[in-house]
Amino acid sequence: MTVWTRLRLRDVTLPNRVWLSPMCQYSADAGGTPTDWHLAHYGARAAGGLGLVMVECTAVAPDMRTTARDLGLWSERQLAGHRRLVEVIETGGSVPAVQLGAAGRKSSHGVPWDNAGTRSAIAPEDGGWQPLAPSAAPFAGLAVPREMTSADGTRVLEDLERAARNAHHAGYRLLELHGANGYLFHEFLSPLANRRTDDWGGDLQARMRFPLEMVRALRSGWPEGKPLVVRLPAEDLLAGGLTTADMTVVAAALGSNGVDMIDLSSGALVPEAGRLTEPLHNARYGPLFRTAGVSVAASGAVCETRHLDEAVPELVDAVLVGRALLRDPYWALRTRGTESWPRQYHRAF
Ligand SMILES: Cc1cc2nc3c(=O)[nH]c(=O)nc-3n(C[C@H](O)[C@H](O)[C@H](O)COP(=O)(O)O)c2cc1C
Repeated sequence: MTVWTRLRLRDVTLPNRVWLSPMCQYSADAGGTPTDWHLAHYGARAAGGLGLVMVECTAVAPDMRTTARDLGLWSERQLAGHRRLVEVIETGGSVPAVQLGAAGRKSSHGVPWDNAGTRSAIAPEDGGWQPLAPSAAPFAGLAVPREMTSADGTRVLEDLERAARNAHHAGYRLLELHGANGYLFHEFLSPLANRRTDDWGGDLQARMRFPLEMVRALRSGWPEGKPLVVRLPAEDLLAGGLTTADMTVVAAALGSNGVDMIDLSSGALVPEAGRLTEPLHNARYGPLFRTAGVSVAASGAVCETRHLDEAVPELVDAVLVGRALLRDPYWALRTRGTESWPRQYHRAF
């Protein structure tokens, strides 16, 4: 078995295990609908021989966006735009997937190319909004969020279910929830962000309660035959935060609640968290997380093609590649023979 071997998850067969990692393009129109940029960007990568193309973090509700230029999946107009995106990805030969996001306290900031790359809050009078989070504790530089009430929780669960149903109607065949990098799901799990004293806070079992409801809400809007993945930190990389022992418990609970695969992406809950930079850093946690009984994928500094062979099958079941595929949409094809290129390009060789 190699990274080019097919992988079956529920009723979906992925043609290989090299996948595009979700990467925000901050290029949606003002209504959160995909634009021509998305068609060109994802179309090029789908023609690049990837088993799966994961569309960037797509918000389940307006106040769950990170920026005003994020994609959404709460309206009919957005749904129509995603249908077109799905067609373009399928034309290229990849399986279309989407990452759904609820940004929690990491919400309402500017796009990265404004403000010299510094993430800063956008105030409501400038078109921003007040973020919702488990506790009223801000992420550095961003607005103080409002602590979620149980009514907010009910609404977020409805948003998730509707977005999952919309993702299905758009034609996506795999759904991922962004449960890492300090988004709402991760904020509830981590004692560094969840300071609640009600049923949703306390020990790990209590902090897991709302995240598991989030997953069940997605499952109820997403068909049985289609796989559900959660992007999860392997640990918080900071004393007092989530440990690998905590996270294997979470991974097993996800497996019992309809999740087929976890996609490891660690850190970024707080600015002080450690940063992993060496090649395959998240994939190295793979063998540990496989003991939780779920399939495991990971992203993180896969920049040379030999890393793909090091990762599969030894460490993980699939590899998500980010920046290398921003630099070069044909990065994966370059390791394979001429035959694997689209036939429209064969005369190039
Ligand atoms: C421009 C950019 C946007 C990103 N947006 C997202 C996102 O929408 N969702 C997510 O889970 N991770 C996001 N990430 C993280 C990547 O998916 C990936 O996990 C990370 O870049 C590490 O993989 P790499 O070393 O192959 O780039 C983003 C990264 C970049 C560079």
